[in-house]
Amino acid sequence: MRRFLPFLLALLALPSGMAQSTPSSAPLPTCEVADVPTAFTGYDQWGLTLVDTHFLLPAGYSPPDLVPTSEAGIGGGGELRAFVIPHLKAMAEAAAAAGHPIAVQSAYRSYQTQVTTFQYWVKVDGYAYALKTSARPGHSEHQLGTTLDIRAKGGQAPWDFQDWAATPTGAWVAENAWRFGFAMSYPKGYESETCYAYEPWHYRYLGAAAAKEIHDRGITTRAYLWGLEQQHAAKP
Ligand code: DAL
Ligand code: ZN
Repeated sequence: MRRFLPFLLALLALPSGMAQSTPSSAPLPTCEVADVPTAFTGYDQWGLTLVDTHFLLPAGYSPPDLVPTSEAGIGGGGELRAFVIPHLKAMAEAAAAAGHPIAVQSAYRSYQTQVTTFQYWVKVDGYAYALKTSARPGHSEHQLGTTLDIRAKGGQAPWDFQDWAATPTGAWVAENAWRFGFAMSYPKGYESETCYAYEPWHYRYLGAAAAKEIHDRGITTRAYLWGLEQQHAAKP
């Protein structure tokens, strides 16, 4: 028993969810504000790349296959990687058929755009608060080109609502996005694990299998990606 004790103690110290996703590896790092290069930065590694307050992308990371989101048949503008478009189109069509048409609030943001975006929120809310709601340059999933903020077609910005997921459109997206390969990166109640305040409008495309796994296991995208990273690190 004694030799199992350290392992048991380590397991107990893990936040729930992490115990499932990284059974025998390092716990999810805390949300320290740092600038540590993320492990997977290939443009074909979009499903593995972890960015948070700690890990960041190179400033020059700018996917070569960005196309207008209008190709998904929805408004709002911006660009996303081409392979995301058919899935966004399918989700938008399903949302519209359910009576909850959607539009894009924000899609790909370059490193430079994120410089401006983060500075804007610092000016509005102060640095400490901005850290919780906006990513510092290099740290945003929007730089991946696979991530978008969603709003209702013809509606206000989703952050103008007390809880966008409590609106009919936001609720539909929260319930169904995983079926199209998208996961809400910053769900309610997981702020200490995701590193950011609740953002019911921010969805990252991870593919159908990954989004289903995140949904079915009730884990966060960050915990899921950290688990994948540990699996890769463990391989000889
Ligand atoms: N609002 C999220 C954290 C971002 O800026 O990417
Ligand atoms: Zn966002």
